[in-house]
Amino acid sequence: MPGSSEIDPARLGAQVDSLAAIEQLRSIAERVPAFLVGGVVRDLLLGRDVADLDVAIEGDAEALMDLAGFSLERDALFLTGRLERDDVKIDVAQARAESYPAPGALPEVRPASIDEDLARRDFTINAMAFPLGGDRQLLDPHAGVEDLRAGELRVLHDGSFVDDPTRALRAARYAARFGFELEPGTERLLRAADLSTVSEDRIDKELGHIAAERDPAAALRLIADWGVMPSLDPNAADRVAEVTRLAAAPPWSAWVDRGLAVKLAIVRPLPQIRELAGATPERASEGTRLAQPWDPAQLLVARALGAEWLDRYASEWRHVTLEIRGDDLLAAGITQGPAVGRGLEAALSGRLDHEISGREEELRIALAAARGEIPED
Ligand code: CTP
Repeated sequence: MPGSSEIDPARLGAQVDSLAAIEQLRSIAERVPAFLVGGVVRDLLLGRDVADLDVAIEGDAEALMDLAGFSLERDALFLTGRLERDDVKIDVAQARAESYPAPGALPEVRPASIDEDLARRDFTINAMAFPLGGDRQLLDPHAGVEDLRAGELRVLHDGSFVDDPTRALRAARYAARFGFELEPGTERLLRAADLSTVSEDRIDKELGHIAAERDPAAALRLIADWGVMPSLDPNAADRVAEVTRLAAAPPWSAWVDRGLAVKLAIVRPLPQIRELAGATPERASEGTRLAQPWDPAQLLVARALGAEWLDRYASEWRHVTLEIRGDDLLAAGITQGPAVGRGLEAALSGRLDHEISGREEELRIALAAARGEIPED
């Protein structure tokens, strides 16, 4: 990619028939006119794996109530449904038309035909539908196949980013994921997009989607290049690139919530995290004391900012435990209270710094610290 000439809509029927969910899809299509829509169709055409399936139906979702594993959900005014059975998940929504009461606001919706449903969508490559019954010929009224072949993102109409400016962020996500370019007219419209009309919540959600991408930094670089998000920190993409690189390998891969760490790396790090990143602890106990209060995702951001010693914390120091417990100190005559914590902490520091080993030495240090015989550092 970008683009591929191997995209072949004639193969769609066979591809759909070999989906794990084909039985369930058929049982939906027996009851109402039903279409695979949006990302699924795009991904099948691109030969990519498809996970969750989106189905649009013309008609009432209640017609599907008798299907095993089907449940109805009320989404604002609309009935939507979900069929969940074995490993199969299908989201079913009634085909709808949208109108935008104000730029950036959530749309008003009404039931509509599949053609109108496709016409409300963001990009031509997402505005195709594959009928699960009837002639099973791809519906592609906006020439999405052509744009997939050319590797281009194209909006369906000039008002698209005015209706929904978050589409500018979606464009960055798709452009980065597929290596696609913006069609020139779309680029002009996108650069004029105004995200200030959109609630922070919705922007946050889009950034969350970007964080879940394989290469979120690539999407952020596009957003910065296009100038559509003035509030985006100019260093965000570099921080995110480093976070995703580190999150892919031990010791961070098994520990950190990658999506959360990337989201944290998009915004300017907290002053305390910058301070942590600049710290140069000389001993394991000191590093552990600095790192302990923080969530792994915050720590990974500090690591990405340069605190290499945090690798040791992630791989070793955080696993160090004591053989003694608070009860052992109580049994030795220490009164319940802060002295116990002080004692345990001193013993842990001793272990971390390899100054002591074994239960006996732990207890000796802990009791001395609890009795105030060791000065605290
Ligand atoms: N959509 C849209 N405008 C938006 C959000 C979504 O037109 N602001 C449409 C697109 O047609 C999209 C579909 O709704 O294909 C489903 O949206 P979503 O689940 O977010 O995206 P997918 O296409 O499934 O893509 P992916 O999950 O792979 O990012």
